[in-house]
Amino acid sequence: MLERLERLPTDPILGLMSLYRADTDPRKVDLGVGVYRDDQGRTPVLSSVRRAEQTVLSRQDTKSYVAAAGNAGFNQAMARLVLGEGHPALAADRVRSIQAPGGCGSLRLGAELFRSAQPDMVIHVSTPTWANHVPLMSGCGLKLERYPYYDPASGGVKFDAMLGTLDRLPARSAVLLHASCHNPTGADLSEAQWRELLDLFKRRTLLPFIDIAYQGLGTGLAEDAFGIRLFCAELPEVAVAVSCSKNFGLYRERTGCLHVISESPKAGDAILSHLVRIARSIYSMPPDHGAAIVHEILGDPALREQWIDELAGMRKRMTGLRHEFVKQLARSCPQRDFRFIAAQRGMFSFLGVDTPQVHALREQHHVYMTDDSRINIAGLSADNLDYVAQAVAQVLRN
Ligand SMILES: Cc1ncc(COP(=O)(O)O)c(C=O)c1O
Repeated sequence: MLERLERLPTDPILGLMSLYRADTDPRKVDLGVGVYRDDQGRTPVLSSVRRAEQTVLSRQDTKSYVAAAGNAGFNQAMARLVLGEGHPALAADRVRSIQAPGGCGSLRLGAELFRSAQPDMVIHVSTPTWANHVPLMSGCGLKLERYPYYDPASGGVKFDAMLGTLDRLPARSAVLLHASCHNPTGADLSEAQWRELLDLFKRRTLLPFIDIAYQGLGTGLAEDAFGIRLFCAELPEVAVAVSCSKNFGLYRERTGCLHVISESPKAGDAILSHLVRIARSIYSMPPDHGAAIVHEILGDPALREQWIDELAGMRKRMTGLRHEFVKQLARSCPQRDFRFIAAQRGMFSFLGVDTPQVHALREQHHVYMTDDSRINIAGLSADNLDYVAQAVAQVLRN
């Protein structure tokens, strides 16, 4: 029976990775894959993670199961990290958390929860959004629709169009938002825009599902969670999917969690019982190692400080690269305004060139990015900035 299955097309990012690997030109530059890179092009294990890992391993005396909702200490520490110490939802015991395999696992658990609560629920995602949001949300049967978001003309958010669309949604629609460092565009909402959005969510009784995968990599730990903190203080129900892949560099350890803020501790307990049941039906329990490391880091003042420093190092490197890249582009392509790249945040931006130009960059200059011209800022470095800017100038000229 399984022979009937036809081969699926290769995932575009994986296809791009193999093309890059096969390219033998020493000038090649990978701006495709969405992982952090240092100036040498490596994705290193953070020193705080290494130290925490040694402590975790030396203390571990069993491999027995942890718990259905994962590591309780990790869940609590992550709720405080995202919401901020002393957040009113924490004080009111309105937060319930479950550890999950990465941000993806958390997103899927949230989607499954929404579907259990309201089988005909529609979830609205930004245009564009991270490609994997689509299968994660719709794979469990949620209907997916889109709202306007990115404005290629300004490199910012089409806020009026976004509000206009959300203002027409039926009550109890779910809306997926990016907390900060929007993937793939790098265009984020300002604090004033989050406040305006909050009024709309209240007025239209919408359910926010906020994805935070880059806390600390945009402007700062508190700033990058501004919208989440505001919404969770002011709205009766919010779901927040958290990934530790990028800000702790724990990608393969599959570390993340889902927080659900509800109206009362009683409602929260009911929600958690459903989340545990859903997780049990998919993978039973989350992997432990990454969560144990994060728990150790967040609970040890010296390690926490070291991690915050390392995180600031990654953030500053990317902010610096954004400014430097804009400078180089201004020199090599004075006819075009790329300043939006410096105004954006996080790991990604759209370069704003068309698909044939993306292909020319790849084939003629060995510069790799996805067809929509999304670039991973961390793939740039002092050594290749000038080369990439010149390559962009050449394909724009042709
Ligand atoms: C917007 C966004 N959400 C969630 C994730 C989840 O990542 P992971 O499942 O690796 O933690 C990512 C990773 O690229 C992302 O970009």
